[in-house]
Amino acid sequence: MHKWILTWILPILLYRSYFYIIFLMGTISLACNDMTPEQMATNVNCSSPERHTRSYDYMEGGDVRVRRLFCRTQWYMRIDKRGKVKGTREANNNYSILEIRTVAVGIVAIKGVESDYFLAMNKSGRLYGKKVCNEDCNFIELIEENHYNTYASAKWTHKGKEMFITLNHKGVPMKGKKTKKEHRASHFLPLAIS
Ligand SMILES: *[C@@H]1O[C@H](CO)[C@@H](O)[C@H](O)[C@H]1NC(C)=O
Ligand SMILES: *[C@@H]1O[C@H](CO)[C@@H](O)[C@H](O)[C@H]1NC(C)=O
Ligand SMILES: *[C@@H]1O[C@H](CO)[C@@H](O)[C@H](O)[C@H]1NC(C)=O
Repeated sequence: MHKWILTWILPILLYRSYFYIIFLMGTISLACNDMTPEQMATNVNCSSPERHTRSYDYMEGGDVRVRRLFCRTQWYMRIDKRGKVKGTREANNNYSILEIRTVAVGIVAIKGVESDYFLAMNKSGRLYGKKVCNEDCNFIELIEENHYNTYASAKWTHKGKEMFITLNHKGVPMKGKKTKKEHRASHFLPLAIS
């Protein structure tokens, strides 16, 4: 399928009725297979509530999870009230409660419930908190073989390599270009809130 078709067909899919989507289900899977993460992210408008109820919500069967992300380096991901992203050791810290929202197949936006900031990664691979969600806030969520999840920027890569959300052994996010899928710092368990 040609790329130019995707740029107009996706917005239509996102905003039209369920029937339309069922009708075009086959086309969607084709379209998504053809798309790079960048293209996926470009077509995602994560501030539009309608999109969630009208499209992928339906396909995924519910798309918001409230979790803590516990890194394999033993830190909980936390976004403080000023939007600073850093780990905490405290299991009950309010700022580590995160809303993980599916915004497209395999792509999530992660928001601190208490701080109201989204996790975002800029082009330089810097992890920061963002008040208004844009493409920097879209991450590809993958369950790895060890049952940990990884989160790679859906928008930015460095020399063709993915850049991951990490917390190093000091609980600090690493520069995206230094991250690897294999690093313990990239491995997160999404823990249900008790
Ligand atoms: C995203 O959706 C919101 C709400 O529907 C709208 O106001 C905004 O202009 C949209 N942004 C883009 C980039 O399409
Ligand atoms: C966490 O939230 C609860 C309920 O909103 C509140 O009672 C508590 O004081 C908060 N704790 C911290 C550390 O902010
Ligand atoms: C990413 O964020 C860092 C820290 O705020 C900043 O120094 C850098 O210029 C930013 N990069 C881009 C491309 O915006």
